Amino acid sequence: MTMLRSVLLGCGSYLPERVLTNDELARDIETSNEWIVQRTGIEQRHIAASGEVTSDLAIKAARAALAAAHVDAQSIDLIVVATSTPDNTFPATAVTVQAGLGITRGAAFDLQAVCSGFVFALATTDGLLRTGTYKRALVIGAETFSRILDWKDRTTCVLFGDGAGAVVLEAQQQGGGRDDRGILTTHLRSDGRHKSKLYVDGGPSSTQTVGHLRMEGRAVFKHAVAMITDVIEDAFRTTGYTAADIDWFVPHQANKRIIDDSAHKLGIAPQKVVITVGQHGNTSAASIPLALNVAIKDGRIKKGDLVLLEAMGGGFTWGSALVRW
Ligand code: UT7
Repeated sequence: MTMLRSVLLGCGSYLPERVLTNDELARDIETSNEWIVQRTGIEQRHIAASGEVTSDLAIKAARAALAAAHVDAQSIDLIVVATSTPDNTFPATAVTVQAGLGITRGAAFDLQAVCSGFVFALATTDGLLRTGTYKRALVIGAETFSRILDWKDRTTCVLFGDGAGAVVLEAQQQGGGRDDRGILTTHLRSDGRHKSKLYVDGGPSSTQTVGHLRMEGRAVFKHAVAMITDVIEDAFRTTGYTAADIDWFVPHQANKRIIDDSAHKLGIAPQKVVITVGQHGNTSAASIPLALNVAIKDGRIKKGDLVLLEAMGGGFTWGSALVRW
């Protein structure tokens, strides 16, 4: 029996020009390159230029994804932007992206699940494509976390960076089995009891300010590996695939230690893990498509490969997606 699947046609990304190294940070706050590399794996991050906003990054990533997919912007009828750092409180950054790409049909909206945003957006878009309502979608993760960091707080400001990544998805009839191309399964979870462990201390309804990111890093770390592996085991149970079947593991890029521990616990070989946190830092909802694009560009991820995506972040929110590229 055939079924509609959301097939990934192409990926693109954009990183702001300015690179901020650990040594530069160590000039202004009490930290060191050694501490940051040892505890997180981060060596540098990109920072948006003054006046460069989230939609600017998103539009550049979207254009690159459209080019990689060999499709015209006019064929897109759905745009979902995962971001926690929108240009404005409203309208959605997605409508600015839509207008920037010259698209006047279909729908565009933002989705907010912090670092899990890209996986949540992928799952939401998959649902909408598989109903047959929309045909071709752009899913974008785009962030300017540099704007919500407290640059005097060394426990958070060294961790994050700016960037954007995008994928083009198309509804296609497939055989209906687990060998199909496209999104095979997604699993999303949230638990609001943990909301004070990673949050921004401002907002339109509470303080009428944007606020700054606050995190109990050790507490987040403690939960991360268990949540990540749990939701990946859900993906394995649903499809019958195991860690041995995975060609590439593309996790959210928050901390190399979390990635290594998760892969180890799941039994995924280190050479199958895509790690970009060293060059990008934690770019929240942008981290997965940024990492995906690196591994596609350098020839690791190829058509037909089984790719496992995973994220965990503020809320807590966490989720997985198993995709055949
Ligand atoms: O993407 C959303 C999900 N977010 C995450 O996954 C982040 C999860 N958490 C982490 O990645 C880690 O907990 C951190 C990287 C944030 C921190 O690493 P840690 O090994 O958990 O360190 P810690 O918080 O236990 O801090 C150890 C020490 C502390 O000093 P004392 O109390 O032991 O004297 C900190 O004050 O390191 C100190 N410290 C620093 N030292 C130099 C904290 N930040 C810094 C810094 N430079 N930037």
